[in-house]
Amino acid sequence: MQFPQKHSATGTTIFTVMSALATKHGAINLSQGFPDFPIDKELADFLGEAAHHGHNQYAPMPGLPVLRHAVCNDFKRRYNVDIDVDTEITITPGATYGIYTAFTCVLQPGDEAILLEPAYDSYIPNIEMNGAKAVPIALSAPDFTVDWNKVKAAVTSKTRALILNTPHNPTGAVWTKEDWDTLADIVKNTNIVILSDEVYEQLIFDGLRHYSVLEHPELRERSFALYSFGKVFNNTGWKTGYCIAPMAYTTAFRRIHQFLSFTANTPAQYALAHHLASGKASNVQAIMEEKRNLFLSLMKETPFTIHNPARGSYFQLASYERINDMSDMDFAQWLTTEHGVATIPISAFYHNKKDDKLIRFCFAKQEETLRAAVDKLRCL
Ligand SMILES: Cc1ncc(COP(=O)(O)O)c(C=O)c1O
Repeated sequence: MQFPQKHSATGTTIFTVMSALATKHGAINLSQGFPDFPIDKELADFLGEAAHHGHNQYAPMPGLPVLRHAVCNDFKRRYNVDIDVDTEITITPGATYGIYTAFTCVLQPGDEAILLEPAYDSYIPNIEMNGAKAVPIALSAPDFTVDWNKVKAAVTSKTRALILNTPHNPTGAVWTKEDWDTLADIVKNTNIVILSDEVYEQLIFDGLRHYSVLEHPELRERSFALYSFGKVFNNTGWKTGYCIAPMAYTTAFRRIHQFLSFTANTPAQYALAHHLASGKASNVQAIMEEKRNLFLSLMKETPFTIHNPARGSYFQLASYERINDMSDMDFAQWLTTEHGVATIPISAFYHNKKDDKLIRFCFAKQEETLRAAVDKLRCL
């Protein structure tokens, strides 16, 4: 049987490859982005309560009203933005799903979609699965800021979408208010739709503040904003997120959503709603900043070079220029198999496998895990 090849990516995602390699060699896994510590007890209790109290059947297609209300109240409190609970928010089975669904609303064969690399690895396959052409633009190393002249130059009459991600995976870079204003100028008088991947919105450090697309009226009216509960409540395996978008966009989104998964996991929605509303969730921002600080101070004892401390997300890039000159893919495999620490090579985040000789560490780990990993890196 020949199956059609719907996108250009071949093989298995690097996250699966490196996690499998870590398991096989008993390596400490700082590759895939997931916390290795427990979720809040209250959240786990609410999940059990949901199952025991009969919240086990399909939730309404847009998501449980109690969860949509809790998210909208939370955004009002944190960003002072008003979101219509009925027409502007849809609960999804994770942000990756939301991104695919939003692209599917917008793109047709022949369209172009701009993305900024290094990029989360679902973007290009999602664009191509919709018959459109991905137009990758490299961020400017070493701080991975956006070269807006390059973005402007990439816009054509076929450009239909632009996806951005801040705080950024894998570089930890964070957009400024000026970045948003420049984007608004570029897309003015075009029919470009923005996909704003803000899954790390609460993981931001050094007193910086996340600017959401929802706070920018001109951009908000042409944007899908995508979020993931997994990154906020340390429960990536629950695969629950949401999409906030203007009414017409949400209507189009739900037209696809109702025939993709129809709805998201009911007990998880129940538990997230009650935990969010209780105000007792632990402070993920402070927790992750402390972990980032610990990781940075530990890494000083190793031969790795950190050019830019992560300003957000739970990833830190590091250069191995003082260790050897292997390709980043070989280096990551060697580090896993020979030294027992799994990471992600940054070339995996570029369509052309550009090798900046950088690897990505996930620091969303228990202190013991980070210390044990650095013990292994110290003697390189
Ligand atoms: C930039 C970015 N977007 C989206 C996601 C996916 O979120 P979810 O697990 O909710 O699908 C991730 C997960 O690592 C990510 O790094």
